[in-house]
Amino acid sequence: MLKILSIVGARPQFVKASVLRRAFDASDDFHELLLHTGQHYDVKMSDIFFEELDIRKPDIRLRVRGGSHGAMTGKMLEEIEAQLLENRPDACLVYGDTNSTLAGALAASKLHIPVIHIEAGLRSLNKRMPEEINRVLTDHASELLFSPTVSGVTNLKNEGITRNVFAVGDIMYDATLASLPKARAIKEIQGIDLRKSPLAACTIHRAENTDTYEALSKIMDWLNAQCDDYNVVLPLHPRTKNALVDYGLSTGRITTIEPIGYYEMQALLAASEMVFTDSGGLQKEAYFHGKPCVTLRDETEWVELIEAGWNRLWSKNYVTPRTAVEEYGNGQSAALILDTIRKTITG
Ligand code: UD1
Repeated sequence: MLKILSIVGARPQFVKASVLRRAFDASDDFHELLLHTGQHYDVKMSDIFFEELDIRKPDIRLRVRGGSHGAMTGKMLEEIEAQLLENRPDACLVYGDTNSTLAGALAASKLHIPVIHIEAGLRSLNKRMPEEINRVLTDHASELLFSPTVSGVTNLKNEGITRNVFAVGDIMYDATLASLPKARAIKEIQGIDLRKSPLAACTIHRAENTDTYEALSKIMDWLNAQCDDYNVVLPLHPRTKNALVDYGLSTGRITTIEPIGYYEMQALLAASEMVFTDSGGLQKEAYFHGKPCVTLRDETEWVELIEAGWNRLWSKNYVTPRTAVEEYGNGQSAALILDTIRKTITG
């Protein structure tokens, strides 16, 4: 039995963890312990995902919430280390680029517990993004690196990381495919009739877009201009909601709603004609649903979507014509990941 301690903390990680936790549970040679750091704690940012995605409850729950990046990451580091010492897993698995990811990778690597990084190799090359720092450091502390893209493998190579790097497709595609039956049954979200076109799904939560009045008001103005053509539906992330209140900014003609669950988001994407977002995950999910996307940032990690004409940065034009992005795989990434862990990590 290989004992894996997986770490989650923020919304996009619950979606990815749902796929792998199911695969670990279905196998007879893995024992997975799931640790939730507490980074996202609102019911609508956390619990709802565990319930609706039917994720077996975390085995370990920390209560690290809010605070500055240093304080949050430091507290997680200390508490995760204690859990690793107590549970002595054969490997520690982390997802993506959040503060929970970095804390897990640092704690485990210092205890010589191999780190498995899901979604390795992504780069925005913008070191002012906390996520960029988190992902670079996590990759360099990792023993086994799973990249969803070929460009991710190249990025790692450029930084001298070539050992135990595997392109396995995107685990979020596994999740989207599994969600379709439930998502298709949803016809209304918080009073919005999904059959009434033209809808545009929108999310904003990046620090670079919310942490100054200038940045957020520029985004609000831009989105309001899109309301000439679309009913722009924006489920508000707590960070963005607080920033709007603090700056006294109006959302104007944008339809704002409470954060929505995973299936509701898939349903909103399927019903929309366009997607506006600063989220990494949503850029890909737009593509999985065959929808064009405008990324509300000056760079993106998902460069293949730009090259394939499905995505554009808000300051640039689309590349045409649109082509398929083969490297995201066929929805079987979880199986590939488990097989590779079996071959690489010895208990
Ligand atoms: C984090 C991740 C980001 C990921 C995103 C998904 C980092 C550095 N960033 O950003 O990579 O894409 O999650 O949503 O880890 N808050 C609440 N309720 C909650 C969660 C957060 O009120 O349930 C508040 C926090 O207290 C904080 C703010 O929202 O004031 C931002 O939360 P935080 O966890 O710092 O980062 P995210 O913007 O969510």
